[in-house]
Amino acid sequence: MTAAKENAARGALEYVEDGMVVGLGSGTTTAYFVEMLGAKMKDERISAVGVVTSFDTEILAKKAGIPVMPLEGKVDIAIDGADIVGKRYVLKGGGGALTREKIVDYAAEKFIVIADEGKADPGKSYPVVLEVVPFAYQYVMGEVRKLGLEPELRVGGKKLGPVVTDNSNFILDCRGEVKGEPEEFEKILNVIPGVVENGVFSKYWKIIIGNETGHYEI
Ligand code: 5RP
Repeated sequence: MTAAKENAARGALEYVEDGMVVGLGSGTTTAYFVEMLGAKMKDERISAVGVVTSFDTEILAKKAGIPVMPLEGKVDIAIDGADIVGKRYVLKGGGGALTREKIVDYAAEKFIVIADEGKADPGKSYPVVLEVVPFAYQYVMGEVRKLGLEPELRVGGKKLGPVVTDNSNFILDCRGEVKGEPEEFEKILNVIPGVVENGVFSKYWKIIIGNETGHYEI
C-alpha cells in the first residue's frame, strides 16, 4: 500500500515545473507528494509555492521546505488524493478537508487525483461526505435522507464529540450511492441550506493510479 501511494505521488511530480503555484491536497498519499516535491525543489534547484488545503498539509509543506501562500487567484496545478475513484467522479473527505480541497482543486488550471489501486476497486464503497454548519446539521440529515442517503455525524478519535473541521464545521458521512449524473448530484447536495461542501468531485484533469510496481493514468 505504501509503495502504491508513493508511486502515484511520483507520477504527479512529473507535472510540476519551475515557478508553479501548486495546490497541495490532504491525506497520506498527498503527504508523499509533498515530501517528494520538497526534495525535487532542493535537488533540481527549482522553485514552487504551495497553496495548502488543511492545517495538516501546511505543517507538512513547511517541514518539506515548500513556501506556502494564501489562495489569491492563480493555481497552476493541484495534486490531491481520493477515497474512491469511480466512473466520472472521485469521492473525497476521509480526512475532513473536503471544502478547502474542492476550492483549491477546482481553482487550479489542472487538477490531478493521485490514488493507490485499491481506491479504484469497483467493489469498494465509501460514504458521500458533507461539511455542514453545526447549527444546521440535524436539518441537513433529514434532507439527505430524502435523497436516499443515510447520514452519520462524524465523531473524533482522540476528542469527545463531533469532529470539528479546519473551518469550524461538522462532518456528515452519508452512506449510499452517487445518483444519476455525478456533476448534477454534486450540485444538488450543495443547494441544501447548511451544506458547506460535499465530497463528490466530478471535475479533474487526470487520475494517476499507483500500484506496487509503478503508476498509470486513467
Ligand atoms: C481528505 C481527503 C483525502 O485526500 C482522502 O481521504 C484520501 O486520503 P489518503 O491519501 O490518506 O488515502 O479527501 O479530506
